[in-house]
Amino acid sequence: MKRTILITGGAGFIGSHVVRLFVGKYPDCRIVCLDKLTYAGNPANLADVAQAPNFVFVKADICDLERMRAVFREYDVEGVIHLAAESHVDRSIRDPFTFARTNVLGTLSLLQAASEHWAGKTEGKRFHHISTDEVYGALQADGTFFTEATRYDPHSPYSASKASSDHFVRAFHDTYGLPTVVSNCSNNYGPYQFPEKLIPLFINNIRLGRPLPVYGRGENVRDWLYVEDHARAIDAIFHRGRIGETYNIGGCNEWRNIDLVRVLVRTADRLLGNPEGHSEHLITFVADRAGHDLRYAIDARKLREELGWEPSLQFEEGIEKTVRWYLDNRKWTDDVTSGEYANYYEQMYGRR
Ligand code: NAD
Ligand code: TYD
Repeated sequence: MKRTILITGGAGFIGSHVVRLFVGKYPDCRIVCLDKLTYAGNPANLADVAQAPNFVFVKADICDLERMRAVFREYDVEGVIHLAAESHVDRSIRDPFTFARTNVLGTLSLLQAASEHWAGKTEGKRFHHISTDEVYGALQADGTFFTEATRYDPHSPYSASKASSDHFVRAFHDTYGLPTVVSNCSNNYGPYQFPEKLIPLFINNIRLGRPLPVYGRGENVRDWLYVEDHARAIDAIFHRGRIGETYNIGGCNEWRNIDLVRVLVRTADRLLGNPEGHSEHLITFVADRAGHDLRYAIDARKLREELGWEPSLQFEEGIEKTVRWYLDNRKWTDDVTSGEYANYYEQMYGRR
């Protein structure tokens, strides 16, 4: 094997797509997928690459500094793509400490292990930190965008913890010369997303005839990107992005939540063979999320102009593929919602 790339959070939603892309595209590289397997991490997401000769799975907690040091030593890690995180805003509102622990302290222990292992020999090494557009705060509905120069202004415990981790990454670059790069991406959608996030939750609820809890009036806007396009952007930035830089990644694809939910209802009803409008009555307006950011929208010009990346999928095509995947893979959703999540759902929405 030419070199080892460590991908943290590789059993989660986005991480599993990145692992799949890298295992297939770089057969000469050893891909070490490191994951604690929290409720959001699922080995089934990697079933199709688990037997590949260049794939290694390590079950570990990124907060365990000694373990991180040992992993860097054992595999002589030369590149890191760091996705492991607690990622759901609603959970962060209920339990901010877990977010600070994993997202801040976990990132710090990985940075420490990398800078110790690479001390004095940073040539060819790279630490790519995966972050979110939510660190920039909220935009008004005024056509402005987040750029890489936008001031950080996080509002949720989730975005505050990600903002903090981004600052630590830059501090390790500026203080210790760690070869880092950061990318901040908009909302992802696609297969293998845990069904507590808007799109898979609502597809599942439409299938089961359960209410679709739209926060507030559904007027919040998100910029949606198909997950495989995010994985392609990570590949480009990890290999060709400039050290010390930040790259914004976005779909140029803004939707008000309520309009998106109507597209989901129409698409799912059609694929389920229901008459048009059959599931519209499930749309239920519920109390708004605390501190709910009104709008996120990314200006991805830097990534396009420097590295030639563009989203490849039109939204209609991506949504069709996604709804079809969840309807064709009901067992996957049923399996991941059968344990701890069932209790979580009950606490959140008062029913199953
Ligand atoms: P996810 O919740 O689906 O997956 C997170 C993974 O990290 C899981 O496999 C989990 O087991 C693992 N993990 C959690 N805590 C860990 C720990 N202490 N040690 C080791 N592994 C641990 O998240 P996702 O949606 O795939 O997001 C991945 C990354 O991308 C996160 O850093 C997130 O902030 C970022 N991001 C997500 C989105 C999005 O729309 N989902 C958008 C932009 C950025
Ligand atoms: P989510 O998928 O949680 O992503 P994020 O909060 O990171 O953007 O939510 C996307 C949008 O959908 C967000 O504006 C909150 C809203 N939402 C609902 O209206 N109802 C829901 O049940 C969920 C989970 C989200």
